[in-house]
Amino acid sequence: MNIAESETAMKTIYLKDYQQPAYWIKKTELDVAIYSGETFVQSKLTIEKNSAVQSQILDLHGENLELLEIKIDGRNLAESEYTLTDTSLSLTPPVQNFTLETRVRIEPEKNTSLEGLYRSRTMYCTQCEAEGFRKITYYLDRPDVMSDFTTRLSADKTTCPVLLSNGNLIDSGDLDDSRHFAVWHDPHQKPAYLFAMVAGDLAHIEDSFTTCSGKQVCLKIFVEPKDLTKCDHAMASLKNAMRWDEEQYGREYDLDIFMIVAVDDFNMGAMENKGLNIFNTSCVLASPETTTDAGFQRVEGVVAHEYFHNWTGNRVTCRDWFQLSLKEGFTVYRDSEFSADMGSRTVKRVEDVAFLRTHQFAEDAGPMAHPIRPASYMEISNFYTLTIYEKGCEVVRMIANLLGPELFRQGSDLYFQRHDGEAVTTEDFVAAMAEVSGRDLTQFGHWYNQAGTPELTITDEYDENSRQYTLTISQYTPPTPELSEKKPFHIPLRVGLIGDAGELALTLADETVEDLPSDNTDRVLEITETTQSFVFNNVPEKPVPSLLRDFSAPVKIKYNYSRDDLCALAIRDSNGFNRYEAVQNLAMAVIDDALNANASGASFTLDSRLTDIYRQLLAQPDLDQAMLAYMLSLPAEGYIAEQQTLIDPLAIHRARLQVKSALAQALHAEFKAVFENLKAIVPYSADAQAIAKRSLKNVCLSYLMDAPGEQELSLCLEQFQSANNMTDEMAALTALVMADNEQAQQAAEQALASFYNKWKNEALVVNQWLALQARNTAAGGLTRVNALMQHEAYDSTNPNKIRSVIGSFCGANTPNFHNISDPAAQGGYAFLAQQIRELDAKNPQIAARLLSPLTRWRRYAAPFSELMREQLQELAQQPGLSPDCYEVVSKSLA
Ligand code: TRP
Ligand code: ZN
Repeated sequence: MNIAESETAMKTIYLKDYQQPAYWIKKTELDVAIYSGETFVQSKLTIEKNSAVQSQILDLHGENLELLEIKIDGRNLAESEYTLTDTSLSLTPPVQNFTLETRVRIEPEKNTSLEGLYRSRTMYCTQCEAEGFRKITYYLDRPDVMSDFTTRLSADKTTCPVLLSNGNLIDSGDLDDSRHFAVWHDPHQKPAYLFAMVAGDLAHIEDSFTTCSGKQVCLKIFVEPKDLTKCDHAMASLKNAMRWDEEQYGREYDLDIFMIVAVDDFNMGAMENKGLNIFNTSCVLASPETTTDAGFQRVEGVVAHEYFHNWTGNRVTCRDWFQLSLKEGFTVYRDSEFSADMGSRTVKRVEDVAFLRTHQFAEDAGPMAHPIRPASYMEISNFYTLTIYEKGCEVVRMIANLLGPELFRQGSDLYFQRHDGEAVTTEDFVAAMAEVSGRDLTQFGHWYNQAGTPELTITDEYDENSRQYTLTISQYTPPTPELSEKKPFHIPLRVGLIGDAGELALTLADETVEDLPSDNTDRVLEITETTQSFVFNNVPEKPVPSLLRDFSAPVKIKYNYSRDDLCALAIRDSNGFNRYEAVQNLAMAVIDDALNANASGASFTLDSRLTDIYRQLLAQPDLDQAMLAYMLSLPAEGYIAEQQTLIDPLAIHRARLQVKSALAQALHAEFKAVFENLKAIVPYSADAQAIAKRSLKNVCLSYLMDAPGEQELSLCLEQFQSANNMTDEMAALTALVMADNEQAQQAAEQALASFYNKWKNEALVVNQWLALQARNTAAGGLTRVNALMQHEAYDSTNPNKIRSVIGSFCGANTPNFHNISDPAAQGGYAFLAQQIRELDAKNPQIAARLLSPLTRWRRYAAPFSELMREQLQELAQQPGLSPDCYEVVSKSLA
């Protein structure tokens, strides 16, 4: 299929066309017999007519299934009684209520899409969200069809001693030919996307949890035997998440057993299948020796995320896939609040916001921009996006902040109680919140149906005589593919005013002193119009406004801060997030200096105000060290790029490095002192304070290694060789690899080799090793990446390896990916297009995800933009391009 042909074959699905199914599936009884090379799936569906729908046609989904048998109420159907296509089986049943039995043959060993039933190393496992169940059997594979599942699994007893599915084990036993079976029943009705089964030779750890009402829940984590020692952190995180959900949301677990299985080949992070979560090994396994602090936090966050889905997603599920953010946005909000409670709230906020602004803002400004509740899609797999997840989380957070904690809890209680067991929409969620609070959330609803990142332009005025201070705010949202003229959003803007001695007390014009809270230094301004003014009374001096505290809405702020204003905020703002923000803004201004100097051929001089702030920060031992580490880190290239009209990636890369080098030079003694202070090797601990110390130390190390002399180099090597944890070991290795200096490069070569030797049997460590080399910004990156793909450690069918090598190179190695000076190579663009062609045939979901660096071509300056577009155009001509890639390529070129 070329693009013209696929245009006719590819169908766009619209939310406005939603209709209930013509039939319901009340009961689903599966018998899955796994043999080497082939699996037989027998299904018995108890089907009832949905009287609300006229059509009599039963239109089942099915893909890559070989139909062996089909019966209605026990009678074999003749071929003339049904119609089979590549993707469906349809028939008009003679009665309203009946049982439909089918038997199909599938080949999990050949399933490289990692969707449906497939084999990962030694085990069989499933991934059904969003539309993978149709690769297991014929079914109404849509989330509004909820069914009672019983699953009988059988397989060889030696290769697959463990047989798992959702719910409770109700029977098991031996069969002939050294086979055995297990029968699982899930007492909760669920859509097919939450179905799971696993068969393999797995070891497990076991623990138990007593719920708030005194029920005992058995907790098991299944892994390959070699990984059994790396499950404790996931188990501890699970128990913390279970307790937190009871305390914060009143949500109790609802089965006697909760299982997690870790698999190596997985398209995403993890999956919330009812009672049987399946995880990418990278999101379960953790040990101090092999896992960085960031890795530990990721495991905690993802374990909690999938557990929280048990209520937000499973008990209350989505009516259709347009509602995806109903479960994902809410669940990300829940896991992010959980992580904030487990560690430092401000640090978690800084991390989440940096991630959103670097990646989601870019998505919102690109060709795939969509509202958190899209109006249409071609391939739903392409809509598991940063917008649905991260922006969706911010929208729920805004509701929570607008209502306050008590009303928000009442709203979530009402939502769960009213919709338990149902498949619902984002409107149902918002309606529950509106109802308990008595607030009109109609305008707020635009966050669900308009894409794009609103920009707030803010001006202010101070009148000395009247002591009035006025903030004037206008909002504008750039056009996005689905909508060019946007209605104004309802935006909560949290502000404070900073005077010479710190926070000022606030009185808005319509407030009287009596109704003011005692802690009266910040206020949420609710922006609802295109332009709006807010007047503060009794303001004793011209203040510096502290805007969008804690990032109270996913918007961009344009306010003309002087650099001295930013310095004042960096020191005096009581809001920790905004102190960080002020330093970032100042750094951004200084990076702009470098960009401008380079563009005009002038020489760049570092504004001493940034150096002074950094020096002051480094001298404040009482500051939270994790926050300090973030404040001392320059904005990421992707974030800088977001601020440019047209992106010149090489100019941004160069300017950022120039600023970093200038800081490294000016503050060498200070970085050294803090590093020396923190470098002592202490017994490893994973508490927040120890993590904070490591991250500050390693930020200092990366500055010290900017232009390392003998001394710095040996400090770094010493840390590399003697580290007792992966955070320090990897930080030292990274600093070596990234140091732009002959001697360091030689040391890096050796260190990389010894690191591989030491860790070659630890797949997750090897992935980090691959990713680091793929990110290496030294010249010759494309050659190195090609070599990595030939390395014994690479595996072109494993998504984690693909992401580590191709994803890291194309997404995080600016000077090499965009190195267009070699016309034959066209930077990495042609390389990426070629990788996508090869991958698309095996795993379209992963191929489509890898496309994203090319899709942003319009945001780039020439000639980058043109060269990227050429690759997309060639891909568009590719015969047999998957629907996944077709959607992304065609929308990018549109
Ligand atoms: N529901 C999963 C989560 O966010 C997402 C997911 C896991 C997924 N695997 C997938 C989505 C495969 C699409 C395809 O927790
Ligand atoms: Zn999720």
